[in-house]
Amino acid sequence: MQPSASFSCALVTGASSGLGEEFALQLAPRVNQLVLVARRETLLRDLAGRIGTLHPQLDIFVMAVDLAVPDECGQLAGMLAEHGLIPDLLVNNAGLGDYGEFVTSEWSKIASMLRVNVEALTYLTHAFLPDMIRRGDGAIVNVSSLASLLAIPDFAVYAATKAYVTSFSEALRLELRGHGIPVLAVCPGPVHTGFGVVAKRGERGRNMPGREWFHVPKEQVVAEALVALARDRARVYPGLKTAAAALVLSVLPIVLLRLAMGAHLSRQDKMPPQP
Ligand SMILES: NC(=O)c1ccc[n+]([C@@H]2O[C@H](COP(=O)([O-])OP(=O)(O)OC[C@H]3O[C@@H](n4cnc5c(N)ncnc54)[C@H](OP(=O)(O)O)[C@@H]3O)[C@@H](O)[C@H]2O)c1
Repeated sequence: MQPSASFSCALVTGASSGLGEEFALQLAPRVNQLVLVARRETLLRDLAGRIGTLHPQLDIFVMAVDLAVPDECGQLAGMLAEHGLIPDLLVNNAGLGDYGEFVTSEWSKIASMLRVNVEALTYLTHAFLPDMIRRGDGAIVNVSSLASLLAIPDFAVYAATKAYVTSFSEALRLELRGHGIPVLAVCPGPVHTGFGVVAKRGERGRNMPGREWFHVPKEQVVAEALVALARDRARVYPGLKTAAAALVLSVLPIVLLRLAMGAHLSRQDKMPPQP
């Protein structure tokens, strides 16, 4: 696959903001059909309008779907079939986090996180893969996280869902090697998107630490992801600081990681609550 790889029909989940919106913008010149999926239909329609103005030849489809509802995930496949759409690029990007201790978390938010970050991503991959294999053409991009490399206190479920995404992507990639269908796990560090607001527990919730120093622009994250996909890489950690952090995390012994994470938690406990 070349760096300028193009696709016929790309489906991007979580296209209403952040990285998903950016994937849609950067994929638009390379595809014939673009399917935008998320719950906030107005934002999707606004994005479709902007992309349509820039790329009038492109067919853009907006599908307002709550991926935390299994029935709606099932209906998405039906909606695509109705329009005769067969995605050959699936970008499983939709996701959310919840920052704070597990015991006081709201179950509804944890359940949404498990369903969107894990179940919907797995379901959509399972739904669209057979057509890719039959046609001998396609690619899957799963948006994971640098957090997938680490058990993170106060981010326990989120980090675990992303460990799933990275592990699933790596294994699936090997299964699909003979079919010529690349699978890429995109593992960003902090990026300025709506993610932090959703992860924060309301006005009085704590902000996630380290985000300013570490953050990488969403445009760079997506650009590096698309280059990695074209080069058939298994994983990408966009941005130099993120790549360096990933290298350190992957060579540090687990005992040191536990000590570091424990120290980080103690520091958090001493911080005053956010205004
Ligand atoms: N930002 C970061 O620091 C960061 C770092 C590492 C990895 N990531 C990952 O990057 C991905 C994109 O997040 P982002 O940073 O771009 O955050 P974002 O701006 O909050 O975007 C999240 C997207 O997911 C969609 N989504 C959430 N729940 C959904 C549901 N139930 N059904 C359908 N769509 C849903 C949202 O759309 P609606 O609300 O309209 O449904 C939105 O489009 C996520 O998988 C996240 O874990 C982010």
